[in-house]
Amino acid sequence: MGLPVRDDLVGKQPYGAPQLPEAIQLNVNENPFPPSASLVAEIATAVAKAATTLNRYPDREALALRADLAAYLTRATGVPLDVAQVWAANGSNEVLQQVCQAFGGPGRVALGFEPSYSMHPLLAAGTSTGWVAVPRAADFTLSVETAVAAVKEHQPAVTFVTTPNNPTGTVTGLDVVAALCEASDGMVVVDEAYAEFGSSPSAVTLLGSCPRLIVSRTMSKAFAGAGLRLGYLAASAEVVDALRLVRLPYHLSALTQAAARAALAHTDELLGTVGAVKAERDRMVSGVQALGLQVVPTEANFLLFGPFAEPTAVWQGLLDHGVLVRDVSSGPGLAGWLRVNAGTPGETTAFLEALAAVVPA
Ligand SMILES: Cc1ncc(COP(=O)(O)O)c(C=O)c1O
Repeated sequence: MGLPVRDDLVGKQPYGAPQLPEAIQLNVNENPFPPSASLVAEIATAVAKAATTLNRYPDREALALRADLAAYLTRATGVPLDVAQVWAANGSNEVLQQVCQAFGGPGRVALGFEPSYSMHPLLAAGTSTGWVAVPRAADFTLSVETAVAAVKEHQPAVTFVTTPNNPTGTVTGLDVVAALCEASDGMVVVDEAYAEFGSSPSAVTLLGSCPRLIVSRTMSKAFAGAGLRLGYLAASAEVVDALRLVRLPYHLSALTQAAARAALAHTDELLGTVGAVKAERDRMVSGVQALGLQVVPTEANFLLFGPFAEPTAVWQGLLDHGVLVRDVSSGPGLAGWLRVNAGTPGETTAFLEALAAVVPA
């Protein structure tokens, strides 16, 4: 007899990018550079100190951490942000889930411009929020006209714009975000998980004029902290108050808060890897193009390449050479394409050699 799982979850697939530690893993857009020995020591010291009071619940409001995040975003964007405007959770996935819990739900829809981050529709589904997928242009860009027409037609409670977009790497201008805020009665979420790799201004600069705007960020990518599980957002203090209605009490452990603060104290060191990551990405772009393949213009730490008649065979061929990339080809608008993220110099070389062997020029 089947379990009484919610009707709307029956038949759905969980998020599941392969984890194959024995391969060169270039499939989940991580930063390939681990923390330095000195930063590891600082994090260990901070976590050990937090452990001395593990009998107590952590700061439910994570105020010190949120103040550090606000200071970083202020420095990065030039926009003065107060701790009350910044919220943090276990990865930006949890931040975005809380947004769906607070602003979505039964009878409401969320909207995204696809192809984009595959978790957005899953987070909508998990919170019984309807999902409307609006296609991007053939070159994966998003125009003001397309964006505004979509929100006018569908009246979403939450609209997602990912920039730089995953999995395409393409950037959406602030003119589109501003037009969406103007046209929308619902919340507009700009997912800036990869912002530090790009050169475009942040949507944080629009917060003052767009009260329903939410900008989400993460320490998983440029900050090289995917294992840390720390995502955050900037929005109005009212938005943050709404999220506090749905978060679980003490959702951020004392260990996470301590480790994240120790990492943030070394922001310059961590973001010092961004230049090297971009250099490897650009080397990948040139190497892939030299094989006669196309690469979508990217401002992220990954690239979309192809198109292939049999992308899954190419994916398998690369894996047979020990290199794991992401087969996104079954996604909406992505037939024929694969995604790979920048590796260390050695990993990038291994990828380019494997690709040359699998796809003769
Ligand atoms: C666009 C985008 N948003 C959010 C995330 C989630 O990141 P995390 O939960 O690690 O912060 C990812 C991860 O790949 C992503 O690509």
